Amino acid sequence: MRTPLCSLMALCAMTTMAIGATGSEVEEKYLIPVPSEQKKIKLGETKTFQDGNLTITVTAIERTGIEMEAEGVAMPLPSSVETLVEGANGTICTTVYLGKVGARAIVSAACEAESDDLRAALVAQQSAAPVEVVDPVDLIAEVEQGGLENPYLGDVSAIAEGQELFLANSCNGCHGGTGGGGMGPPLSNGVWVYGIDDDTLFRLVTLGSDGLIEAGYSRVAREKVVGPMPPYEGIIESADDLWKILAWVRSISQSDAPPLK
Ligand code: HEC
Repeated sequence: MRTPLCSLMALCAMTTMAIGATGSEVEEKYLIPVPSEQKKIKLGETKTFQDGNLTITVTAIERTGIEMEAEGVAMPLPSSVETLVEGANGTICTTVYLGKVGARAIVSAACEAESDDLRAALVAQQSAAPVEVVDPVDLIAEVEQGGLENPYLGDVSAIAEGQELFLANSCNGCHGGTGGGGMGPPLSNGVWVYGIDDDTLFRLVTLGSDGLIEAGYSRVAREKVVGPMPPYEGIIESADDLWKILAWVRSISQSDAPPLK
């Protein structure tokens, strides 16, 4: 969840930075808030922010987020997401986990006197469903073969994100930046080595060719380029991210196969 706090709190560096010579503005989702105070916190360590208005103890550190206790209340702080917590002395504080340096979490915070808007945002956040990151490996283990379905097929913004994630995970190194193929087979043609259904593609990328075959799946077609697809187990750590990538892959496919299943 990403609360629209920037507008409320004037915390963000909303300076419209220009990229390169094009002068185009940075998309809002890339604007990372610049809260007033940043600290590096070790596992189990407690630090105070904002002249003692906020006390944070870090109880778990992952790349995708940390667990913290703020003013004694335990809660997750997902990476790069603004999370509101109640501070001392009638304040409400925005906290952001900016990432890790070595074993320490970089956490930033800014507290403001409580206002109606802030209180409403805090309540809205508390009643929203927590962001849950599911590892593709766990999803594969949980769902019986043939049962995985892509929730993002045809979802334009998820597809755009999927293309970025495709590049960010170096899929383009083998499949080409537009999925037209290279060292690896094209993804944009109508040939699908193991089939085009969501379940097979999700397992193929997670387990790799060898793992997929070991799991009992078999080759149904041949591409011009033949080689093993490497397993992305442990590299793509969010099932959601992988679904978005695959939604993009499906969107560029020239396949005559029906768009669903
Ligand atoms: C090191 C090269 C390499 C990388 C990196 C790679 N792939 Fe592959 N990929 C392959 C090869 C080779 C195959 C063919 C597998 C086979 O024939 O068993 C393949 C097959 C596939 C297929 C099935 C294609 C078809 O025609 O049936 C999909 C989908 C796919 N890869 C997606 C991805 C995604 C998504 C990523 C990044 C997360 C990725 N690949 C990264 C080499 C790679």
